[in-house]
Amino acid sequence: MYTGSRILFPVVIVSLLLCVLLLNAIGVSCARGGKEEASLTLSCGTNGGMDADGRNWDSDSKYLGSGESKTVRATFQDPSLLSQVPYMDARVFTKEFSYKFPITSKKRYWVRFHFYPSTYPGFNISNSYFSVAANDINLLSNFSAAITAQALTQAYIVREYSLAPVDSDSLTITFKPSDKYPGSFAFVNGIELVPTPDLFDSATMVGFSDQSFDASSGNMQTMFRLNVGGNYIPANNDSGGLLRTWYDDVPYLFGAAIGLNAVLSKKIKVDYKDLPDYAAPVDVYRTGRSMGPDKAVNLGYNLTWLFQVDANFTYVMRLHFCEVEFERINQRVFNIYINNQTAQVDPPADIIAWTGDKGVPTYKDYSIYIDDKPGDEQIILAIGPSLDTKPEYFNSILNGLEIFKIDTSKNLAGPNPQVSDMLSKAELTSTKSFSNESSSSTIQVIGGAAGGAAAIGLVAAICIVVYQRKKRVPGTDTHTSSWLPIYGHSQTSGTKSTISGKSNPSSHLSAMAQGLCRRFSLPEIRQATKNFDESYVIGVGGFGKVYKGVLDGKLKVAIKRSNPSSEQGVNEFVTEIEMLSKLRHKHLVSLIGFCEQDEEMCLVYDYMALGTLREHIYNIKKPHLSWKQRLEICIGAARGLHYLHTGAKYTIIHRDVKTTNILLDENWVAKVSDFGLSKTGPNMEHGHVSTVVKGSFGYLDPEYFRRQQLTEKSDIYSFGVVLFEVLCARPALNPSLPKEQVSLADWALSNTRKGTLENIIDPHLKGKIIPECMKKFSDTAEKCLSDNGIDRPSMGDVLWNLEFCLQLEENSSSDGSSSRSSRRGGSDESSEDLSLRNRPQLHISSLSLGSDSDLDEEPEEVDTNNTAIFSQIVNPTGR
Ligand SMILES: *[C@@H]1O[C@H](CO)[C@@H](O)[C@H](O)[C@H]1NC(C)=O
Ligand SMILES: *[C@@H]1O[C@H](CO)[C@@H](O)[C@H](O)[C@H]1NC(C)=O
Ligand SMILES: *[C@@H]1O[C@H](CO)[C@@H](O)[C@H](O)[C@H]1NC(C)=O
Ligand SMILES: *[C@@H]1O[C@H](CO)[C@@H](O)[C@H](O)[C@H]1NC(C)=O
Ligand SMILES: *[C@@H]1O[C@H](CO)[C@@H](O)[C@H](O)[C@H]1NC(C)=O
Ligand SMILES: *[C@@H]1O[C@H](CO)[C@@H](O)[C@H](O)[C@H]1NC(C)=O
Ligand SMILES: *[C@@H]1O[C@H](CO)[C@@H](O)[C@H](O)[C@H]1NC(C)=O
Ligand SMILES: *[C@@H]1O[C@H](CO)[C@@H](O)[C@H](O)[C@H]1NC(C)=O
Ligand SMILES: *[C@@H]1O[C@H](CO)[C@@H](O)[C@H](O)[C@H]1NC(C)=O
Repeated sequence: MYTGSRILFPVVIVSLLLCVLLLNAIGVSCARGGKEEASLTLSCGTNGGMDADGRNWDSDSKYLGSGESKTVRATFQDPSLLSQVPYMDARVFTKEFSYKFPITSKKRYWVRFHFYPSTYPGFNISNSYFSVAANDINLLSNFSAAITAQALTQAYIVREYSLAPVDSDSLTITFKPSDKYPGSFAFVNGIELVPTPDLFDSATMVGFSDQSFDASSGNMQTMFRLNVGGNYIPANNDSGGLLRTWYDDVPYLFGAAIGLNAVLSKKIKVDYKDLPDYAAPVDVYRTGRSMGPDKAVNLGYNLTWLFQVDANFTYVMRLHFCEVEFERINQRVFNIYINNQTAQVDPPADIIAWTGDKGVPTYKDYSIYIDDKPGDEQIILAIGPSLDTKPEYFNSILNGLEIFKIDTSKNLAGPNPQVSDMLSKAELTSTKSFSNESSSSTIQVIGGAAGGAAAIGLVAAICIVVYQRKKRVPGTDTHTSSWLPIYGHSQTSGTKSTISGKSNPSSHLSAMAQGLCRRFSLPEIRQATKNFDESYVIGVGGFGKVYKGVLDGKLKVAIKRSNPSSEQGVNEFVTEIEMLSKLRHKHLVSLIGFCEQDEEMCLVYDYMALGTLREHIYNIKKPHLSWKQRLEICIGAARGLHYLHTGAKYTIIHRDVKTTNILLDENWVAKVSDFGLSKTGPNMEHGHVSTVVKGSFGYLDPEYFRRQQLTEKSDIYSFGVVLFEVLCARPALNPSLPKEQVSLADWALSNTRKGTLENIIDPHLKGKIIPECMKKFSDTAEKCLSDNGIDRPSMGDVLWNLEFCLQLEENSSSDGSSSRSSRRGGSDESSEDLSLRNRPQLHISSLSLGSDSDLDEEPEEVDTNNTAIFSQIVNPTGR
């Protein structure tokens, strides 16, 4: 009766919204307040036009200064570009060229550059290296937009600078191609110039707390801008009309203990008091990341973020604070460390002491110089409880963070980031992405979905979340600059106006995800599902119904349609897109695309013809899988998980490994599904922090309960349960059994230790597994279930052991030994399989409903005429 009941579990938040890293360019024109000088929004090399957000871009022709330029049009529109303006057209310079802009003297300006490194006729983008200067300040040098975009896995790049006030009424921006590369040229697609208030003042120097760094006259590059513990905030939702974009902080979190999202109760208004409203938007202050409720746990860790930066620069870090939980002084007092040094010394941070009240925001600036000792090109920010003043709670919180790079001797340029090996490989395998042939095969469609965001294929690289400490030891990274992306795709949605604010997922979706997978129109989806015909329904869950469908005339898909009333669904939706769109692997289910239009939200997946692994193991109306088939499936799933754990630059933890999340395609290839590792919102009504950890009973790592820390070893534990499930053909939990047998993990372990495992294995396997293989397999599964994560093998080890088992099995069968092992469609058992397989089958849903009920037990009366089974992961609630 259980796929494992889903549980709600207020412990720790692990939000895996990924890669919300990209600056975007949307927004209202910022000519706010009438008499304020208007900002310039220029699309270079065109007459201008409107972008997908309805923002108007003007021609740059009025501002051309000296030098020659050409206008060119890209031959390829990346799917992430929802409108042609401003990216499809570029102004190209083969010699030095400058723009001249009128400005108000003694005023600070944002200047933003938009670069779309694509294929321009007559130019080879790989040869483009150039420098950019604003007056005499060097902003970029030897800059390759193509390398940068590839390293950051973005189709385009936005760079933001804050130029210090100058005593002049014009600003000259100069583009100069590098003379070191033959055929080199410079280009730009869009330029924004936005007047701003004086945003900077003095910043406390880390390590010299009695001194301060005067940032007021500095020129800066924005490196990171995060709404800590909150969501992505697009430029048009910024405060003060400054058109800044705020990203989720999750990708920068370091270590397994990542605290909780804390949210100010809706009943309390954020009161800026003396703080100007342009400091940061209300949403930044309303949400924060704090530690858990457990004092002892909190004492044992710091909330830590890690940022890759360029060496030899001073950085100003602006930490935004707003108390959302406590009301009195000395309730929450904490230390702020920057690169192991106490940044906030004497007294330690006590937000109420600074602001006087809950809901009143403030910010603190710190400066730190990063020199170029090897492995030093990073900023580590940590906050943890301070005990000096014996505070009531041991806790810490951060609401927002900005990191600016300050110029040294009129230079802000750093090296190009280095493209990781994995990205290069992915690039090779996706060279098709720039072709504009119409896609006809499934593969091409998926390829096209990944789109010209090119390298994306395997690229989780950058976007990952829960870092594995040992991988991040300073010094193990390459010493070139390889920061996480912040700037990139435009967050756009042509359908915004028709979607009500609350359920508008586009507002939550990182632009990157939108770029990576295909966006379907509602009519396309309607056509695929015969207007959501009930006969196409293959499952129901809290998220909504799952339909099968056929897109593009031949592409079989499973379409998960959200129930618009479910807020849970929105989170799920977003997380799943964010996660899946970036991961592509033979053993991971592919998200093909999504649709969000007119209050409809749908996710479109690859068709998994054979359903879930569980359907083929027990309570089945299907032929039993041979041992070899089971091994092959386990190996496939292990490969998928191994990829999640190690294939990317950082570790991804699946968190819900179980037999219903391992799906099978028509060739029996196992694919791991359901990465909807959701961040479920805190309980706003009560204004307190409650977060939800997902997982399924029977598979949950006991260590995770104890330490509240998630590691990839939690997946190993769950996978151990899966291995026993496959061997013993029974659910992970079965409450109808005698007490000692309820939990498969416990029952299998006790039998393994007593040497009686043979008694509890699937009767269909009895005598069909050669003893060496059996031993290896059960040893492996047993180790996976070790109580302490540290004693569990890695996924790589598990994989190796399973492959070894398979070899043993294969060798013995090729010896003609008695043990039988049926090849796919080979042996008698399989031919029996085949005949049965062609029989109409009942759909068995793999949906879990967040309750104890499990649809698997009762085949639903839907889709009774299909020989194949659609199955799609829906884990609607109960995260
Ligand atoms: C562009 O230049 C790169 C390196 O200079 C070269 O490898 C590539 O073949 C060129 N592409 C075209 C289309 O000429
Ligand atoms: C940093 O500055 C030092 C001394 O000026 C110089 O030797 C070094 O190459 C610089 N490092 C980088 C990454 O620019
Ligand atoms: C928190 O970070 C500081 C600075 O790196 C370190 O001294 C302290 O030991 C850390 N605290 C814990 C509990 O790890
Ligand atoms: C900072 O502290 C961490 C552990 O707390 C240590 O591994 C690292 O080497 C320290 N870094 C510096 C620059 O001292
Ligand atoms: C320019 O950038 C490229 C790519 O990052 C690098 O290989 C090259 O050494 C740089 N050239 C100079 C002159 O800095
Ligand atoms: C892309 O399309 C254009 C016009 O439709 C065509 O001229 C060009 O050959 C195509 N390029 C490729 C690589 O198919
Ligand atoms: C942006 O602001 C609009 C209007 O206030 C709101 O409806 C929308 O939800 C906001 N979007 C985000 C991502 O905050
Ligand atoms: C299986 O047989 C091959 C070839 O005979 C041999 O190389 C391999 O080591 C054997 N594998 C196992 C696990 O015995
Ligand atoms: C199922 O079969 C019925 C009757 O045979 C048919 O009308 C219906 O279209 C079929 N549904 C699907 C999804 O094939």
